[in-house]
Formats: sequence, C-alpha cells, structure tokens
Amino acid sequence: MIGIFDSGIGGLTVAKAIKKVLPSYDLVYFGDTARVPYGNKSDDLIKQYALEDAKFLISKGAKIIIVACNTASSVALDYLRSNFDIPIFGVIEPAVRGALEATVNGNIGVIGTRATINSKVFEKLLKNFDLLKQNKKIDKNVNVPAFMRKQGISPVKDKMKINIFSQSAPLLVPLTEEGHLNRPETIKIIKYYISPLKMKQIDTLILGCTHYPLLKDLIQTKMKNTTLIDSAVYIAEDLRKYLSANIDIDRSLSKRKCENYYVSDLTLHTQNIVQKFLGKKINLEYVKLN
Ligand code: DGL
Repeated sequence: MIGIFDSGIGGLTVAKAIKKVLPSYDLVYFGDTARVPYGNKSDDLIKQYALEDAKFLISKGAKIIIVACNTASSVALDYLRSNFDIPIFGVIEPAVRGALEATVNGNIGVIGTRATINSKVFEKLLKNFDLLKQNKKIDKNVNVPAFMRKQGISPVKDKMKINIFSQSAPLLVPLTEEGHLNRPETIKIIKYYISPLKMKQIDTLILGCTHYPLLKDLIQTKMKNTTLIDSAVYIAEDLRKYLSANIDIDRSLSKRKCENYYVSDLTLHTQNIVQKFLGKKINLEYVKLN
C-alpha cells in the first residue's frame, strides 16, 4: 500500500493526483483532523505528530509513505527517514523541481505556513543546487534530491541565477477550511500576502501548503503572468518514476484499487469540506491514534 498523510484533509488533493497516475495501487490516507493545523506548532511537536502519523500508516500496511503536508515535509522529513527504513517522500522537493522547470526570469516566490517558511527549506535546497552547479561543496545536512544531483534541470536553467522570495500565508488555511474560496475577504488577504512577492517580480509561485491549490484560480487572477506550482502533480510524477525504477518496491505494493481514508476527528463539516476539495464524496473513517 501507498501511505499518505497530511495534517488534515488538504492532502487528499495529493492522494487524488497519485490515484490519477497509479490507478490500480492501493492507498491508505490519514488526515490528522483532530490536531490540524500543524503550521503554527513547534518543530518538535510537528516531528512527534509526523512520527505518529507514519506509524499509523505502517500499521495499516503502508510500504512507502508520502508526506502530503508541506509543513511536515519541511520540518520532519529527515526525522521520519531516520526512524523508518521504508521510502518516504515529501512534497517540497517536487515543488522546487516544478518551479525550476517553470521559471524564466529565475525569481521564484513561495507561500506556505509559518513553520514551512521559517524552516527555510526552499532556500536551503536552492542554495545547494547553486553550489552543485558551481561544483562546490554542498551542505551535507540538507538532503539533495536526485534531480539536482544527477541531471540538473536544463543547460539554460542550470546557469540561471535563482532568487527565492518567501512569504508565510497562515490565514489562507482557515479561510479555505471554512469554504471561503471566492469571497471578498479571501481576495483581500491574498492580495496582502502576494503584493510583496509581486514587487520582487516573481514569475513562478510555489503553493507551499496543501490548502492553497484550492485558491489557485483566485490567486491566478491576481497574478496573471505567474506560473503557479501545485506540488501534487509533481510528487505523483516523481512517485511513478521512482516505482518504475525500483521494481522490488513496486512489487511490494498491492494493486487492487483499494482506497482507505482515515481521520482523527470526523464531523459533518469535515465531510462537506472533503466533498468541496475533491468534487465527490468519499468514505472517511474515524480512528484514534494510540
Ligand atoms: N497541511 C498543511 C501544509 O501543507 C496546512 C495546514 C496546517 O497548518 O496544518 O502545510
């Protein structure tokens, strides 16, 4: 089984993207709706939650884990990898790859939760990418994804100077969860968050939080000539490529088109929001961790 977790239900968009490219693979999803949001918690607490989430998925038969939550991917990915010996993927590296592929002027913006932006994970990754391009020693504490180490992006892009401008956008999470996807207050707050990025003349914006893709159309109207990067598409693609290159792991994954979705708190509101997120009803099961 492919295990996917998020702090809540936003990660279902990642599950949907994976399902699209790997339709026969069994999925188990866990959304920690009882403890969401992770984005304003301390790094230690985020790591503890991520560890418990991953343990739950493994207890359900996951042989590979996708951390769909940007906050947990930013803060807890290395910690998870040091605790489990199964492949664990986050959503940050795929988003960076997507942004590097898309940018033309080298100015990339990122919006995310406070914990994600404070982790400086995007800046650290890109700094290592720069050092690699110059054949200099990289920071060993920052994991360098294969796409940077092996093939780079393209000869033109690899010479380009990349600037990253980040902005935490915490208010967009509750607005999305309340279903305020096209309301004046949401537009106002989007404008507030993106105006400093616009001044930096970014041409690419990473939507570094599971909730933001739901505001994609709205953000796009305020940033007409900017490419918006939704990591769901890129992580799904990376996973498909990884499985075709790692046959043993691929064989260990069951393929009976089963999907199980668990949440740590289940309300009618959650069910309605899920329907809004996915455009269809799915069966959510309540589970108590530990
Ligand atoms: N899932 C989180 C993320 O992608 C957003 C919500 C939260 O703060 O937990 O960063």
